[in-house]
Amino acid sequence: MRDAYIVQSVRTPGCKQKKGLFNQTRPEELISFIMKEAVERTVNLKPEDIDDVMLGCAFPEAEQGLNLGRIAAKMAGFPDEVSGATVNRFCASGLEAIALASVRVSAGWSDICVGAGCESMTFVPMGGNVPRPHPEYSKTYPEMYVSMGITAENVASRYKVSREDQDIFAAASQAKATAARDNGKFTEIIPTPAYKYVVQPDGTYKKETFIVEHDDGIRLSTPEGLAKLGAVFKVNGSVTAGNSSQTTDGAAASIIASKEKCKELGLTPIARLVGYTTVGCKADEMGVGPKYAIPKVLKQVGMTIDDIDIYEINEAFASQALHCIRELGIEKYMDKINIHGGAIALGHPLGCTGAKLTATCIANLREVGGKYGVVSMCIGGGMGAAAVFEKL
Ligand SMILES: CC(C)(COP(=O)(O)OP(=O)(O)OC[C@H]1O[C@@H](n2cnc3c(N)ncnc32)[C@H](O)[C@@H]1OP(=O)(O)O)[C@@H](O)C(=O)NCCC(=O)NCCS
Repeated sequence: MRDAYIVQSVRTPGCKQKKGLFNQTRPEELISFIMKEAVERTVNLKPEDIDDVMLGCAFPEAEQGLNLGRIAAKMAGFPDEVSGATVNRFCASGLEAIALASVRVSAGWSDICVGAGCESMTFVPMGGNVPRPHPEYSKTYPEMYVSMGITAENVASRYKVSREDQDIFAAASQAKATAARDNGKFTEIIPTPAYKYVVQPDGTYKKETFIVEHDDGIRLSTPEGLAKLGAVFKVNGSVTAGNSSQTTDGAAASIIASKEKCKELGLTPIARLVGYTTVGCKADEMGVGPKYAIPKVLKQVGMTIDDIDIYEINEAFASQALHCIRELGIEKYMDKINIHGGAIALGHPLGCTGAKLTATCIANLREVGGKYGVVSMCIGGGMGAAAVFEKL
């Protein structure tokens, strides 16, 4: 197997579903913009050097349907020869895409490959536009189709994660994100053009373009304030709009090149994927996924929790993130986990999240002078995924 190096990793801001700044900007625009920028910001790289695009998307239909991987490549201005595929592993789609891009390069199938993720939850809601569970199987095993919020309630009640602890965790995510935004720490974000249609005095609509620089869901909160919110998924439950991940629109892209191509073109490696794994778990408590996936990937690469400098553990819900952190024995490393907040504050654009967290992980490793980072998330249907990255 050849060495595969990440030479670029960037993301758009994440903006709230429907209420946010990308609510009229189509997903193809977000992903093609970030892929184009990823190439343009990589010294000595041209679009024609790319072989293939692996693009993660959790609900690849309607505006983000057909084969968004290929459409995005064309809209980014890449030549006809650049192929593209769309990859779906729900919330790990973006990470899966980066892993596939890396493995393509390692295997010698591609010399340079984009690994990316995109989701507009505004244009395509979670569950898709027309959900069609299998009529008999959904009665035999309804857990496969259960709402993600209910899985979060199950984790909270089965593993005794209190409402108070969920709200403390959520407030900390918001506080870290607020501080990071105010101090310019999100160096992986590329200011991204967006547009909206504004009604004119004569009743016609005019397309107005503007630039989005920050994640727009950050909302500084206190545990006391969050405690006032009602449970949204279950009567007398503990999972609220304040301690759940936000539903979000966004895109992210990494570029992976072989060692030989880096030398030939003069590309500078910034990181590499050391290992990647996925694992299944019970569907009705899918949030426990990272507690199995992280030890599995660490074993694969011969490391322990003590070797990791930065953890990016997706905050699908405070209940499951906190439970996994406790079970993994990394509560002592809270200063290394989601150092600039997580999906509770920054949003969770499903199929984009793995690609987004990779960009964040590499930026945060750079910031703290660390070497190894873990990106992990739970996945609907009952799975976990985890990757180890090395900053070069
Ligand atoms: C929980 C959920 C249903 C809430 O959706 P929503 O109602 O659109 O959420 P919002 O962020 O708009 O918040 C609704 C209200 O809650 C309150 N609220 C939310 N976050 C708050 C905070 N941090 N502080 C104070 N109030 C808050 C506000 O009153 C807010 O309304 P406002 O913005 O008009 O003031 C949605 O975020 C969700 O489904 N999250 C989970 C997504 C998921 O399952 N992903 C996959 C995981 S595997």
